[in-house]
Amino acid sequence: MTINQPINDVIEARHSVRNYDGTTKISQTEMTAMLKLAFLAPSALNLQPIRAMVIATPQIRQQLATATGNKRQLTTASAVVLFVNDRENLAEAQPFLPAQRADNPAQSDIAALDTGLVAMQFMLVAKDHGYDTNPMTGFDHAAFSRILKLDPVRYEPRLLVAIGKAVQPGKGAPHKASQALIEFR
Ligand SMILES: Cc1cc2nc3c(=O)[nH]c(=O)nc-3n(C[C@H](O)[C@H](O)[C@H](O)COP(=O)(O)O)c2cc1C
Repeated sequence: MTINQPINDVIEARHSVRNYDGTTKISQTEMTAMLKLAFLAPSALNLQPIRAMVIATPQIRQQLATATGNKRQLTTASAVVLFVNDRENLAEAQPFLPAQRADNPAQSDIAALDTGLVAMQFMLVAKDHGYDTNPMTGFDHAAFSRILKLDPVRYEPRLLVAIGKAVQPGKGAPHKASQALIEFR
């Protein structure tokens, strides 16, 4: 396991992988260490509303696989991590959010941004630990909540990330040239 590679190398080596070896186990200690780093990500008003549900149990992953087109990732990865927005977190934040309520759609959008930052850090840390990942929004959110017995009022599923050892190294998708992406004014 290589840890603390140069950040540019880690960023360039990360590609979405959709087929994993199906046998590698990631210990709870290592998973916790990776998520701990990921959760150092910034969040709006430092509310830290995102929670990670780590699902390694094969039977539960099999059940979840019935509620997504991304079945191979669900069944061959070491684990999938469901990042959810904890709406109850807002209650603690009332002093900062006088005009906001948990059902404010803007809050959900902000939580989506917070999720992206945590998940991106998680995928890079995972790569540094020698694992590959695949972020996924292609799953039935309501069905996942039902299968995982999550309170649908409290927890809003945001992003699923598969993590494991790739059968073959990820190839990498074409990325646009910087001229098409960056403007200076
Ligand atoms: C928000 C988001 C949702 C995604 N959902 C899926 C998905 O449901 N299934 C899948 O196979 N890949 C999914 N991807 C992965 C993208 O297809 C992939 O990141 C993109 O093609 C670029 O490839 P790369 O990750 O290898 O750089 C998702 C990526 C993002 C950022």
